[in-house]
Amino acid sequence: MLSRHPYEPFPNVESRNVLQECVEVPAVVRSLKLPVGARVLEVGCGRGIALPPLSQLCRPSRLVGLDIDEELLAAARSRADERGIDVELVRGDVRALPFADRSFDVVVDFGTCYHVGHAERALSEIARVLDHGGRFVHETPLSQRLAHPVRSRGRLPWRSEPRLCRDRTAVLWSSRRAL
Ligand SMILES: C[S@@+](CC[C@H](N)C(=O)[O-])C[C@H]1O[C@@H](n2cnc3c(N)ncnc32)[C@H](O)[C@@H]1O
Repeated sequence: MLSRHPYEPFPNVESRNVLQECVEVPAVVRSLKLPVGARVLEVGCGRGIALPPLSQLCRPSRLVGLDIDEELLAAARSRADERGIDVELVRGDVRALPFADRSFDVVVDFGTCYHVGHAERALSEIARVLDHGGRFVHETPLSQRLAHPVRSRGRLPWRSEPRLCRDRTAVLWSSRRAL
């Protein structure tokens, strides 16, 4: 059993989905200068709201969405098919990623690592699947506080994962670079 704190699902709020698709993802891509043509993994992709704008703006050579929840992945599949985007959707745990070492250039996380138990295992797995110089894009503690003032669990355990080094930051989002 990996969970120290059981994960509590988030409600589906359509207005938040629209904001994420039309404002948040474009802002992350531009402010952190995410590369075009990269191999991109979103961990905790949920209903796949971020996948169409990631596909459109980053034109990835490979795009994968991973989530632990089968129902959310089915919703992500419908959404991706409706939008005609090429994405692999994979069921899995961010703390035990079903991918080979160094298979991605960018891993994106809109909050999942803040809400799973044993987040150090998630960071270790993300560092493992990132290629040298690859980037882990994540929300900052401020972003978490603003979005989830009550259930926010504070900071991520960066000290446990020295392979992820500080890179860029843009107030609400940051990236770490893999050694
Ligand atoms: C904070 S939500 C983010 C959902 C979506 N990416 C968004 O931005 O709206 C976290 C997502 O992580 C998924 N999740 C929870 N625990 C997980 C785990 N251990 N491994 C992978 N995904 C997990 C949940 O099913 C949920 O879809």
